[in-house]
Amino acid sequence: MTHTVRTQVVIVGAGPSGLLLGALLHKAGIDNIIVERQSGEYVLGRIRAGILEQVTLDLLHEAGVGATVTQAGTPHHAIELVFQNQRHAIDITGLTGGKSVTAYGQTEVTRDLMNARAAAGLTTWYSAEDVSVNGFDGPHPYVLCQHEGQAKRIDADFIAGCDGFHGVCRASVPAGSLQEFERVYPFGWLGILADVPPVSPHAIVYANSAEGFALCSMRSLTRSRYYVQCPLSDQVSDWSDERFWDALRRRLDPALAEQIITGPSIEKSIAPLRSYVAEPMRFGRMFLAGDASHIVPPTGAKGLNLAASDVKYLSAALIEHYAERSDAGIDAYSDRCLARIWRAERFSWWLTNLMHRFPDNGAFGQKMQDAELHYLVNSRAASTALAENYVGLPLDFAQH
Ligand code: APR
Ligand code: PHB
Repeated sequence: MTHTVRTQVVIVGAGPSGLLLGALLHKAGIDNIIVERQSGEYVLGRIRAGILEQVTLDLLHEAGVGATVTQAGTPHHAIELVFQNQRHAIDITGLTGGKSVTAYGQTEVTRDLMNARAAAGLTTWYSAEDVSVNGFDGPHPYVLCQHEGQAKRIDADFIAGCDGFHGVCRASVPAGSLQEFERVYPFGWLGILADVPPVSPHAIVYANSAEGFALCSMRSLTRSRYYVQCPLSDQVSDWSDERFWDALRRRLDPALAEQIITGPSIEKSIAPLRSYVAEPMRFGRMFLAGDASHIVPPTGAKGLNLAASDVKYLSAALIEHYAERSDAGIDAYSDRCLARIWRAERFSWWLTNLMHRFPDNGAFGQKMQDAELHYLVNSRAASTALAENYVGLPLDFAQH
């Protein structure tokens, strides 16, 4: 016997996209159920980037979960670029008329949203198996799954595919209705988390060195997040903590390297780097949002921020549908999202190309990278272009 329930919007995936959408819809009085393949603990165990744009902060406040990030997040007014053993600060606040970003982990954003959802008594089915999305090309979409040993069906007005890059929603779109764009980079990032004070608590440091890229970031004043570029063939087990700290130090300028405080890692993982976009983002009564429809390499930390802007557009479109009986927002959803996504894809691709050592770059390519880095830190126009993208482009701007 299949147990059947009904809701207005069924959300697939309880990552930041799905949880934020659920919170915004709930605030607007729109009923929703989230179906998640993993357990809540598993979702919270994934460590990802941790830089929030103002647009994302505003949305967390709108969703009613802004208090913790305001209290525990660390504002950043600058970033630093290290190359040829020298550090150069880019005053992103000065160059953008007062804007900044906030260091606050994606894991913490997810936890805040999970707690708020549980406190509001909203339905989330964790550890759901065999999730399938059906009927979205017609008027009656529904989701099927196995949950707590029972076959379940959720009938809804809409399906929101917030189920990440490996999810079921994009995979369920008929072949031929989707166009994919992709670039895979020939290296990964080895990241570690350690309970030591960050070497640069007020500016994320991006380093391009002869041995490859390195990044100094943080989660709090007592927890650091560092990364080094590594070959895709490397395994985490190839990297002892000691080897990691040595590699990191060698990639920074000597003064900064000396200030690094080391300690045992509490998490260590290797992530591949990819740029990917699937178009469009709406298929009848199903929408894709966040990593389900696009991936950026982590250079510039745009992944979570793009997921947040998709969710802003999607929640506004659904609210308009229910409150004003207008489908204008729904019809514009895909184009609105993609306009901002492609700009962030370009920025993340550009910063990745600028800051990493590519195996086949050659001597000429290296000279071009060096020249661009010098130009960037010495030209107010070029620094401004970096800064305005880093703090995040506005939500509303011309699409064409
Ligand atoms: N059924 C139900 N849930 C699923 C399924 C499925 N078939 N497949 C995947 N999921 C769940 C995953 O377990 C995950 O919890 O969907 C969720 C998707 O979450 P994320 O991958 O975190 O994607 P999203 O919420 O869009 O967040 C985007 O994540 O990868 C980072 O940089 C990215 O910061 C960005 C953010
Ligand atoms: C992080 O804190 O994990 C981080 C920060 C900046 C980036 C990428 C990741 O560009």
